Amino acid sequence: MRSYSDQKSDPAPVHVPVLLKQVIKYLLTDPGGLYVDATADGGGHSQAVLLELKQKGKLICCDRDVDALEYCKNRLKGFKEKVDFAKVNFKNLGSHLESQKINDVSGFLFDLGMSTLQLEDPERGFSYLKDGSLDMRMDLSQKKKAYDVVNFYPLEKLAEIFREYGELKRAKLLARIIVESRNKAKINTTRDLKEVLQPKLDPRNKSKALSKCFQAIRIEVNDELDELKEGINQAMEFLRPGGRLCVISYHSLEDRLVKSTFNFYSKGCICPPDFPQCVCGGKKVLKVLTKKPLVPDKEEKKENPRSRSAKLRVCEKLNFSK
Ligand SMILES: C[S@@+](CC[C@H](N)C(=O)[O-])C[C@H]1O[C@@H](n2cnc3c(N)ncnc32)[C@H](O)[C@@H]1O
Repeated sequence: MRSYSDQKSDPAPVHVPVLLKQVIKYLLTDPGGLYVDATADGGGHSQAVLLELKQKGKLICCDRDVDALEYCKNRLKGFKEKVDFAKVNFKNLGSHLESQKINDVSGFLFDLGMSTLQLEDPERGFSYLKDGSLDMRMDLSQKKKAYDVVNFYPLEKLAEIFREYGELKRAKLLARIIVESRNKAKINTTRDLKEVLQPKLDPRNKSKALSKCFQAIRIEVNDELDELKEGINQAMEFLRPGGRLCVISYHSLEDRLVKSTFNFYSKGCICPPDFPQCVCGGKKVLKVLTKKPLVPDKEEKKENPRSRSAKLRVCEKLNFSK
């Protein structure tokens, strides 16, 4: 295992927690409650939550990145028994909580995407701005890397990823130049990939298009959208009535998914309006507290440019038993 301090840039880059005040305001309804930070990473939000907890208040810090979790553990060691750590991905959140006999969580936080620590480490391969291996795994024990997607996925599948996860117009063309290039020699590094893609990107919009290509591959490698959907579903199961779920997303695919999942749970009955009575048995499970997502103000965007695209949505579980 590498630690963040092993990174070439020294000192290790700091991840500034996004929309921190808003998260604390919405998430913490009971200072003696049990909270889960599903994306603890460097522990920015976690630390602020822990500082607010009183009496029996407790926080479980989860992340699928062991390096991040080690860093977080070290940062939060002063909070002793108030905090626990677990290497858990969203899909396994429920089974982890069950194994700990936990079923009444006061609040979950999901702060999606990558952290500065991951992005700035060239060896992780997340950024086209740094030359590194084509990796992009958040969970370093996972087999599939960006290298496998780029070098072995069929053309149609690559095009679909660029179209669906990158929302790129020239998806097929981009997939084709990757396939042509890898037929001559494998694409090994982030720089290789950038050089293959660049000539086919709109010159007026090159950086944006490149980051969309990288985003698309990253979403595929980490199965990010299925993970998110499953994570929200599992959090809903384990929230106590009155407990809250806060999700910060960073691009439209994530935000759309959060919005539609919240809407689904807040709707209750899904019978057609002309049915004389409800036959679906659907019950409202939550109340949406943010009709419009909360976004960083000008000052935060200026101080922390990575917060620019952040959107926070919050919901509250209603008093409805499973
Ligand atoms: C933006 S960072 C969180 C930063 C943190 N809130 C802070 O203030 O320091 C996102 C973190 O979520 C983790 N992550 C993303 N998707 C995940 C998933 N499906 N399961 C578990 N962790 C995930 C990443 O590994 C990363 O460490």
